Amino acid sequence: MKKIWIKDIKDYEGQEITLQAWLYNKRSSGKLHFLQLRDGTAEIQAVIFKGNVTPEVFELADKITQESAIEVKGTVKKHDRSKIGYELDATDVKIISGSDDYPITPKEHGPHFLMEHRHLWLRSLKQNAILKIRHRIIKSIRDFFDNHGFTLVDAPIFTPNACEGSTTLFETDYFDQKAYLSQSGQLYMEAACAAVGKAYCFGPTFRAEKSKTRRHLTEFWMVEPEVAYMDIFEDMDLAEEFVEYIVQQVVEHCRPELETLERDVSKLENIKRPFPRISYDEAIEILHKKGNDTPWGEDFGGDEETLISEEFDKPVMIHHYPMSVKAFYFKQDGEKAACVDMIAPEGYGEIIGGGQREEDIDKLLAKIHEQGLSEETFDWYLDIRKYGSVPHAGFGLGIERTVAWLCGLSHVRETIPFPRLMDRLKP
Ligand code: 4AD
Ligand code: MG
Repeated sequence: MKKIWIKDIKDYEGQEITLQAWLYNKRSSGKLHFLQLRDGTAEIQAVIFKGNVTPEVFELADKITQESAIEVKGTVKKHDRSKIGYELDATDVKIISGSDDYPITPKEHGPHFLMEHRHLWLRSLKQNAILKIRHRIIKSIRDFFDNHGFTLVDAPIFTPNACEGSTTLFETDYFDQKAYLSQSGQLYMEAACAAVGKAYCFGPTFRAEKSKTRRHLTEFWMVEPEVAYMDIFEDMDLAEEFVEYIVQQVVEHCRPELETLERDVSKLENIKRPFPRISYDEAIEILHKKGNDTPWGEDFGGDEETLISEEFDKPVMIHHYPMSVKAFYFKQDGEKAACVDMIAPEGYGEIIGGGQREEDIDKLLAKIHEQGLSEETFDWYLDIRKYGSVPHAGFGLGIERTVAWLCGLSHVRETIPFPRLMDRLKP
């Protein structure tokens, strides 16, 4: 017998079918039991009328506990008031596997309790919607780059190089050497773009973030395009087209999920090019006008990002930060770095960091020395500048920050199936 998934229920109107699902809620009144079923693809209500089933089945239905796996036979009927538009008029119910004392009840639980039970919490309708939207974001990312002539080039996870500074490195023994878990695949994409022109990598990245914030994970997913012969301004064009595409794909394909999350979709529909672009200097001016006294030359934190984002209803690109607050690899432009950060609207923070890379070997070497990095571990990276060095640029988009923004979640812990935080390694 072919397995029937709830999302396909419309194809079976008027037919008697058997569904396998979990019970996520139940309500009874006299001669009726209403079983709320979910199978991960969608939800449907099964109605058990005393007159339609044997007394044993009616009694069994009364005793089914939350998250039991059950099989329900019944006729598919149109039901306009339900989300899926149908319900199942049941004639038989069987228990496949019971579930006693399921810890997550329909009442409210605190975030710590829910995180401890993350492996079960994922079954909730809200978490299911987030997983679906995350999936759509990732699919859109792959489609975008595949449709724009990029080649996927996988970057390694073990690396000898600190790409994003030495303070957030996870160090590990690598036989008789020291290795780090990758903070970013960028350096490898710079090598790759000289091989394939337009490259991107997509994988987990790691940072030993010692602060507990709502925007930082220790393991997060990043997609990193890198393009040969591209400058900082074309890099911003690419980032803008890319983010517009992802957001509009989610709006187009994830309506029911956005509804489950009570997300204001009109705010997302508005995310169309062009996005505002301001320089770091202009960003400082905005902050000062709003009473934030960050001095020129300092980096922005979450508070500053939120204040700046309040001025715009689209993502804002802040470019040309002082070189002193940015990583060694950026192309220098006077005292500024040819860099860009994209800040999401509604206070969701920086979703993209990127820019144009230094293509001059002497300037790059000076930076490596200045920042106390080991020239020896970067010898391969310097080779990219020795053999046919060209201008090139790229960026990294953080998946979890993007999921938080599109789903309207205040904390990144719900944006990834099994989050890794400073104080969380389990489940
Ligand atoms: O701005 P970042 O540090 O840039 C880079 O790593 C570059 N090497 C990327 C490149 O140019 N190829 O990180 C990029 C993005 C941030 O904008 C943010 O969205 C996300 O990665 N991110 C984090 N997300 C969750 N938890 C963390 N600890 C994050 N750190 C960065
Ligand atoms: Mg950054």
